[in-house]
Amino acid sequence: MKIAMVGSGYVGLVSGACFADFGHDVVCIDKDQAKIDALHDNIMPIYEPGLDALVESNVKAGRLSFTTSLAEGIRDASAIFIAVGTPSRRGDGHADLSYVYAVAREVGENLANDAVIVTKSTVPVGTGDEVERIIKDTGTGHRFSVVSNPEFLREGAAIGDFKRPDRIVIGAEDDFGREVMREVYRPLFLNESPILFTSRRTSELIKYAANAFLATKITFINEMADLCEKVGANVQDVSRGIGMDNRIGAKFLHAGPGYGGSCFPKDTLALLKTAEDYDSPTRIIEAVVKVNESRKRAMGRKVLDALGGADKARGKKAALLGLTFKPNTDDMRDSPAIAVAQTLTDAGVAVSAYDPEGMEQARPLMPQVTMCDDPYSAIEGADATVIVTEWDAFRALDMGRVRELANAPVLVDLRNIYDPTDMREAGFTYASIGRD
Ligand code: UDX
Repeated sequence: MKIAMVGSGYVGLVSGACFADFGHDVVCIDKDQAKIDALHDNIMPIYEPGLDALVESNVKAGRLSFTTSLAEGIRDASAIFIAVGTPSRRGDGHADLSYVYAVAREVGENLANDAVIVTKSTVPVGTGDEVERIIKDTGTGHRFSVVSNPEFLREGAAIGDFKRPDRIVIGAEDDFGREVMREVYRPLFLNESPILFTSRRTSELIKYAANAFLATKITFINEMADLCEKVGANVQDVSRGIGMDNRIGAKFLHAGPGYGGSCFPKDTLALLKTAEDYDSPTRIIEAVVKVNESRKRAMGRKVLDALGGADKARGKKAALLGLTFKPNTDDMRDSPAIAVAQTLTDAGVAVSAYDPEGMEQARPLMPQVTMCDDPYSAIEGADATVIVTEWDAFRALDMGRVRELANAPVLVDLRNIYDPTDMREAGFTYASIGRD
């Protein structure tokens, strides 16, 4: 089966490479000539573990190719995926659908055979209807069906998530759409990955509801962590204690500095806007968004406390270990590190930092921070060392060396990757999240 993937960013590229790996014939399309040239040289536009090898082997096998020409790329394709960005619109938080609609128009104008057009981009409820209308308006004579098929890929684990999904959601309005999608996902069908067929609008909402629920779960445990600190309880045990209840589930209950990334912040905001438009307020999500935003700065204040309070912090130095919103990515979007660094520099603290993959993206976002080549250079002369992102490289730091290099043995662990007792025995003043 031939599949066209319009948009070769994170979602398009991972999905395209995985479909090719299943044996489909896949063309990834992107307007950005430099990106397509780089892909021809097997240079990935993003950091994702395993992606370069997957792309390389499928290109070699002749199943995966790249082009800037949409008309050429979609020719003979039975399924045409739209996987372009839907950023938050400046000013009002609505998802910006201009890229999706532009692609829909171009697809309609260039359609040379019957095809199913699939929105993989995260799009608000009703977008599929509009895509259908736009394609119809181009006057295409070919049969087409517009389907919603949201992705649930985590950065850093995207290939595994694609190949072994908890479920595949397909929102289709007719048999043509359902049949083609069944063919697209047949390899996963055979692996017994559950496929849920719904209406198109339902499928569009499922994606937002899933991300909003996960963001709520994280925010819930983060507030429990604050309470734990006040009452002298341990949030990790609270997570375990509630997570063992199957109705709650153990995942996504790690307390931390607040969620970031390309999805949760943007999608929760977009869901709020949809709810507002339909006069059906989602007050829980409203609270989640507010609590998470203020938490990021509160983490900066936690570091100030460890430096002796805002009054005494001026002129001191803090070392940030990890800047990306989570490990195994170079993505800095809405990373808590940005607010932490800002709060510290606002208080007159000098900040140095190290991240295994994210420094290039971090530099323009935090020009006031001194970027270092390794964790120990960042720690040199620091009055507090702060673990912001739980990269594996920080899980077994040489604590003797940290103590020697730092100006003071103060560790603020925003990801709870160290044991409080061990750290105190090692001579550190240690602060973490929701634990004594
Ligand atoms: C998320 C969804 O998981 C994915 O299904 C969706 O398609 C896109 O958004 P991603 O943004 O890549 O994926 O990262 P994820 O691993 O879900 O983490 C999101 C944020 O939540 C990170 O900032 C992470 O640090 C935080 N988080 C996650 C916690 O603070 N605690 C947790 O228990 C889990």
